[in-house]
Amino acid sequence: MKLTVLNGSPKGEFSVTMQYVKYIQKKFPEHELKIINISERIKKIERNETYFNEIIDEIKNSDGLLWAFPLYVFLVASQYKRFIELITERNVQDAFKNKYTGVLTTSIHFYDHAAHNYMNAICDDLDMNYLGSYSADMIDLFEETERIKLSIFARNFFEDIRSHAITTKTYRPLVEREFNYKPSPTTIKVDNENKRVAVVTDSLDSDSNLSNMIEKFQNIFTDDISVYNLNDVDIKGGCLGCIQCGFDNVCMYQDKDGFFDFYEKLKDYDAIIFAGSMKDRYLSSKWKQFFDRGFYKGHTPSFEGKQMGFIISGSLNQNSNLREILEAYTQFQEANLVEIVTDEYGESDELDDHIQNFAREIIRSATSNYIKPSTFLGVAGTLIFRDAIFGRLRFPFIADHKYYKKHGLYNFPQKDYKIRVRNKMMILLTKLPGMKTEITKRTKKEMIKPFENI
Ligand SMILES: Cc1cc2nc3c(=O)[nH]c(=O)nc-3n(C[C@H](O)[C@H](O)[C@H](O)COP(=O)(O)O)c2cc1C
Repeated sequence: MKLTVLNGSPKGEFSVTMQYVKYIQKKFPEHELKIINISERIKKIERNETYFNEIIDEIKNSDGLLWAFPLYVFLVASQYKRFIELITERNVQDAFKNKYTGVLTTSIHFYDHAAHNYMNAICDDLDMNYLGSYSADMIDLFEETERIKLSIFARNFFEDIRSHAITTKTYRPLVEREFNYKPSPTTIKVDNENKRVAVVTDSLDSDSNLSNMIEKFQNIFTDDISVYNLNDVDIKGGCLGCIQCGFDNVCMYQDKDGFFDFYEKLKDYDAIIFAGSMKDRYLSSKWKQFFDRGFYKGHTPSFEGKQMGFIISGSLNQNSNLREILEAYTQFQEANLVEIVTDEYGESDELDDHIQNFAREIIRSATSNYIKPSTFLGVAGTLIFRDAIFGRLRFPFIADHKYYKKHGLYNFPQKDYKIRVRNKMMILLTKLPGMKTEITKRTKKEMIKPFENI
């Protein structure tokens, strides 16, 4: 069989993910895996329609399609996202329809599930036959047991294509709402209380719901707030994954475009609101570029202590994966997610009230420096990064290591000597006759005892 592999790594042939594809090729020489470097060549793909059409023809003429990509900031890289957008923009969905497909990623398992959910939904939207996904850790291939697992995935993938296996859809098509938001003039203003608020958007249409929501939001405050458009920022391209930033948080683009200055400027604000329209199952690739380029800060937060919120135009209620990504992003940033306002419910006057309330909440939280506790989304993510930066990623992420040390992030339980002594004593005690029953009897009371003094 002949399969097309769409390589999502901006590193092209130097991609770790492609080593996994090459391993599959080595194990199954009877099938041809044709790799196309999508992210690395995105500028040519966008500019040169003939080249784009050649890729689409290649897909059309193949027996199956493998989306193979590295995780980039909760999703695919911005360049890959742009390619996905081009499929609908250039109306070539037919090449994908009913095609057998699957996903192969490499990552350190930080939100790999979110990227897989995203791609599954994209494949469902394209009416493809989705056979499943495989999430390899970037170092898995060095382990025999992992190589066996990968081979089984590939074997099943090929077999399912050959036998025309039955597939089911996981995601329903998104239903968009016909609604034109017409904001009313604001009568009750919200006092900024000297808090600086910035809105960042990618809106290109000044009369869209998104632009109108931003305008409404802007007009609610007694003092001016700043509104920035990503399209006005000189951004030369997406993150290339070179990891030069690992040493000292200096991006290879630093003196070449305006992203660094823009991103750093956002730190001057007490509240940062991200505003965008849903594009397929995420925001735009422009927004993705913003998040990816922020990776020059490595695995450390850029906006800790800030109030954050999102103004989204689109059916977010049908896209819990995106909502989770936005929540997780905020928690990773150690910021406070005030709210996500969307235009999917209610009439214009209700949305007016919603935006008014949002503005009030931002100032209220900012004046009390409120950062709500993280949920599993933030807590689990922190632990993945802690272990990775302490160990295998300390080099080349030297700047992260320094940050983690300085901020006490290496909070391994092994260091908690008080707990270790207590555990030893209690475990020894349970070995004495009758003690287990005695301890069980007292556990509930003893557990709440330390709270008595608080
Ligand atoms: C900009 C950037 C963002 C990343 N984001 C994530 C992420 O969100 N989750 C994760 O588990 N790994 C993340 N990684 C790690 C890569 O997914 C991992 O190193 C992958 O194996 C790289 O594959 P490649 O060499 O094919 O590009 C990121 C790496 C880079 C450079």
